[in-house]
Amino acid sequence: LQIINPKYVASAVRKDQYPELSLPEIAFLGRSNVGKSSLINSLCNQRGLARVSGEPGKTQTINFFSAEIREKDHDEVMRTPLCLVDLPGYGFARAGGKKRQMWSSFISEYITSSPRLRMLCLLIDLRHPGLAIDGQAYDWLAASGVHLQIIGTKSDKLKSNEKKKNLAILDAMFPADSSAVAYSALKKEGREVLLERFINTIAD
Ligand code: GTP
Ligand code: MG
Repeated sequence: LQIINPKYVASAVRKDQYPELSLPEIAFLGRSNVGKSSLINSLCNQRGLARVSGEPGKTQTINFFSAEIREKDHDEVMRTPLCLVDLPGYGFARAGGKKRQMWSSFISEYITSSPRLRMLCLLIDLRHPGLAIDGQAYDWLAASGVHLQIIGTKSDKLKSNEKKKNLAILDAMFPADSSAVAYSALKKEGREVLLERFINTIAD
């Protein structure tokens, strides 16, 4: 499976700024610094597509990227056009001492009102599978009724036995529409499985 033609489309903080693409959307949520933008870049094989930083709070708007998943089955080539949606992270209070909010109202507006949102991916640092703030995010997302996928990020930082153990914790704590996937933007672990799930969910 390949992703072809990844392109930045638009940034939005209001509904009237959402792009008029009519592509199925897959959105990525999670704590600041968990690796949302890196995951989009690694899926698309394009380093600078979404902006990444070692400092939390890098992504500040809803960013839309269009792309196509290309699937080759013998001679037949199938294409699944889609839109990857990078969201700002939660759990990070910006300098200035503003009250820490779960997430900005424009994120909830997007989740509850985008007509094209087909799948929510909740990213959780695979080294820390039991954080309360991720539990709150999960409760809210699970109630939204959108297809939910849990992704354990930065899997390259764990040994394989820890990985297994923590994935099992994620599956037990955060039951979703399909089992949690371990992902590494560095090693591309989990890439094929995720792309397959995107195709299947969009085809549903
Ligand atoms: P915000 O936009 O601030 O919410 O952060 P984000 O979730 O988009 O995280 P981002 O992709 O900017 O990555 C944050 C940091 O984690 C960067 O220093 C990345 O290089 C690092 N990182 C992301 N994914 C991985 C991974 O799979 N493995 C390792 N080792 N580091 C990663
Ligand atoms: Mg980001």
